[in-house]
Amino acid sequence: MRERLIFKDGPELFRAAAELFRDAARSSSGPCRVALSGGRTPIGLFSLLSDPSSGLRESIPWEKIHFFWSDERCVPPDSPESNYRSALDALLSRVPVSPDRIHRVEAELPDPAESARRYEATVLRELGARPRFDLIFLGLGPDGHTASLFPGSPAVREQRRLVVPVAVDQKTRNRVTFTLPLINAAAKIVCLASGADKADAVRRVFEEPPSESVPAGLVRPADGELLWLLDRPAASRLKI
Ligand code: 6PG
Repeated sequence: MRERLIFKDGPELFRAAAELFRDAARSSSGPCRVALSGGRTPIGLFSLLSDPSSGLRESIPWEKIHFFWSDERCVPPDSPESNYRSALDALLSRVPVSPDRIHRVEAELPDPAESARRYEATVLRELGARPRFDLIFLGLGPDGHTASLFPGSPAVREQRRLVVPVAVDQKTRNRVTFTLPLINAAAKIVCLASGADKADAVRRVFEEPPSESVPAGLVRPADGELLWLLDRPAASRLKI
């Protein structure tokens, strides 16, 4: 099931995403495994979740939640480019989550393939042999990428591995990313897209046939819920 919700602006979108996060944690019967997305978009969500005045922070059962990342840049954890560092600064250092429930990618290793192997082992250890995340957040790049699944990358076609390294072009760091089999096994996937620079990618996701040229359009949970949360600028090129 794929649902699309359009919000007036970023703050409304982040509020909806935060409530989905809270509800997933509350409804989980045991540990709630959540994978965070990277980039700039989720910072607004993280800030809202950690803001004591938001009315959300105190209503979330933080002790149930285990944090993962759907992708990571191959940089040290204290790098400003690190998705882990962004979440630590804006959220995880501000809420009651114990370190043993924060499962970062060891992306600082010299070999991204080893980082991917170790993270796949972490996912299997924490979620079992058929890992099904309770909630995965994803972003959307202007080129239609999601996580670190870029158009034309072999990682988009990966059907066996759960986590793989991604060699990106010179200007962009190498990455480690969840693959589509792991993403599409989730119980709930929430894709966030905010800003006019995402409008054409959003149009392609919803109005073009699924294709490896738009990896975000291949996010289709086999037995779960997919929600696209868009603000009006990001939805501005949609026909309906
Ligand atoms: C990353 C992300 C990536 C991101 C999109 C959107 O590590 O950069 O995981 O997939 O979600 O590129 O990025 P922005 O939110 O910064 O536009």
